[in-house]
Amino acid sequence: MEFPQTRLRRLRTTAPMRSLVRETHLHPSALVYPLFLCPGEGVRREVNSMPGVYNLSIDEAVKEAEQAASLGLGGLLLFGLPETKDEQGSSAYDANGIMQQGLRALKQTAAAKKLVLIADVCLCEYTSHGHCGVVQREGDEFHVDNDATLDLLAKTGASLAEAGADVVAPSDMMDGRVAAIRDELDEDGFEQVPVLSYASKFASAFYGPFREAADSAPQFGDRRTYQMDGANLREAMREIEQDLGEGADMILMKPALPYLDVIHAARGRFDVPMGAYQVSGEYSMMQAAFERGWLERDRAILESLISIRRAGADFIVTYFAKEAAKLL
Ligand code: PBG
Repeated sequence: MEFPQTRLRRLRTTAPMRSLVRETHLHPSALVYPLFLCPGEGVRREVNSMPGVYNLSIDEAVKEAEQAASLGLGGLLLFGLPETKDEQGSSAYDANGIMQQGLRALKQTAAAKKLVLIADVCLCEYTSHGHCGVVQREGDEFHVDNDATLDLLAKTGASLAEAGADVVAPSDMMDGRVAAIRDELDEDGFEQVPVLSYASKFASAFYGPFREAADSAPQFGDRRTYQMDGANLREAMREIEQDLGEGADMILMKPALPYLDVIHAARGRFDVPMGAYQVSGEYSMMQAAFERGWLERDRAILESLISIRRAGADFIVTYFAKEAAKLL
């Protein structure tokens, strides 16, 4: 049937009518809020390029966790800014590292019973060179050594699980890291701790502000030899397939808005729980527009999140998580 028998506008006439036929929903429990843990006490240092996002000492992070829990958020994604960095990123797998201390503290809060504590597993915040793996230098050239990195990532994953992480989330893009982490977790008695793999991670300009937040910018070169080329969708499917084959329980897609087609394709193909990460640059560019009065804040936030859900993500990691939960 066609117009005039069919009038699609009939179902848009009132807010309750629109709500009744809405196809996609947002719920606070499907939002994950990233936190950047730093040493010290009472530290709450705003990130220049990310208004509203802070480096937080552990006591301050605990307050954030309490807020997140009372807003009904699904979880926290934790990153660490260590006291010291070295070539091997050894603070990442130090039992007394910033993440391990933070996890132990967070785990003792009532909030932790309501939140999933997800620990990012990567070396870039912990290495002096800022790369996500072990760097081998040959004169002026360098390369990131895949296989030498796996052992360090596996140790990091197990150390974070030991400290209380509910989920470990490798974001380094080394080949074989999911299997390496899974093996180490199982060996150490953490067979119940799931791996959320950042399976589809593109080398993106949209991570720029994060590198300020996490102090993790590479000191030379870039990440294009390990993160994916933004032009490739089929390769993303292969990455996911490989990580699932290695035992990933869930996958994370990033960035989100510039890669909705990739999220959609993955949804059609894989039946595992899938998250998407609305990354720092996506957040910062919206914040910049809000500051200028160029976009309507509340509507733009919710519209960006619903798009990511509509593309097929089950949950979303977003710096807007608290604000969005208040709007819902
Ligand atoms: C660590 C990591 C990065 C992000 C998440 N984990 C940075 C990078 O790969 O350079 C980016 C998150 C964001 O931009 O919000 N490897």
